[in-house]
Amino acid sequence: MASTQGQRQLTPLKPGTPLIAVEHLSRTIITRAQRTTILDDVTFVVAAQSLFAITGSSGSGKTTLLNVLTGIDRPTSGSVLVAGEALPNKGENALARWRGRHVGIIFQFFQLIPTLTALENVLLALELGGGGGLSRRAWRDRALHCLDLVDMRAYARRLPSALSGGQQQRVAIARALANDPPLLVADEPTGNLDSHSAAAVFEVLAGLTERGKTLMRASAGIDLLDGRIVRRHNLSSASQEVSQ
Ligand SMILES: Nc1ncnc2c1ncn2[C@@H]1O[C@H](COP(=O)(O)OP(=O)(O)OP(=O)(O)O)[C@@H](O)[C@H]1O
Ligand SMILES: [Mg+2]
Repeated sequence: MASTQGQRQLTPLKPGTPLIAVEHLSRTIITRAQRTTILDDVTFVVAAQSLFAITGSSGSGKTTLLNVLTGIDRPTSGSVLVAGEALPNKGENALARWRGRHVGIIFQFFQLIPTLTALENVLLALELGGGGGLSRRAWRDRALHCLDLVDMRAYARRLPSALSGGQQQRVAIARALANDPPLLVADEPTGNLDSHSAAAVFEVLAGLTERGKTLMRASAGIDLLDGRIVRRHNLSSASQEVSQ
């Protein structure tokens, strides 16, 4: 999409090279009463143009981890490199600019602005994210192109209230693509959708790797081993080991 819609902001990494490198990441919260370790010495690499899932039961730290990767939260110790660079560690403005260039965020509850149409929601992301390297004149075309990518162009003038949950989430994906970031982060993107809408949203997300995007997704789920469920990561309470 970048070649016809304006210059890319970052040189795309070859598939398989690390886009994200997390090393010895910890996040501890200290309150008056106690010290809680939410993330404990986490180390992993996410390859460029891959689909990377973080699964775990409710309260296991998925959202906290994604928030640290997008600079919404800060690690207590350890490092996060995205495309070889550390996140800016000073100033919300620098961080917002960094986020605009590097990452699009997709939320469980869509978080569209209810008074703006689908198109205007995507345009707002361009406004806030610096325009994806495009001149303001080209924003409308970019926004329509992003709606096209998620098959929502025909709904560009609708308000979120006139869209189904799955359609709203697809608009939210278009918004996350607006500034053409290499990384998309989705926290339970289908957690609030019926299975049919969830499948459509997942198909859109999975297809983005072919467009050079890397997708990190947090979700509840099941772990299979040799065709059997060995662990369930439920949305409620602790996960359950399955007795063999
Ligand atoms: N600001 C905070 N202060 C204290 N504890 C927190 C804070 N934020 C998160 N926690 C705790 O950290 C743990 C991890 O929370 P987190 O939201 O990352 O889990 P999650 O895996 O995303 O859960 P869910 O599947 O329910 O979304 C939980 O035990 C939570 O209560
Ligand atoms: Mg969560």
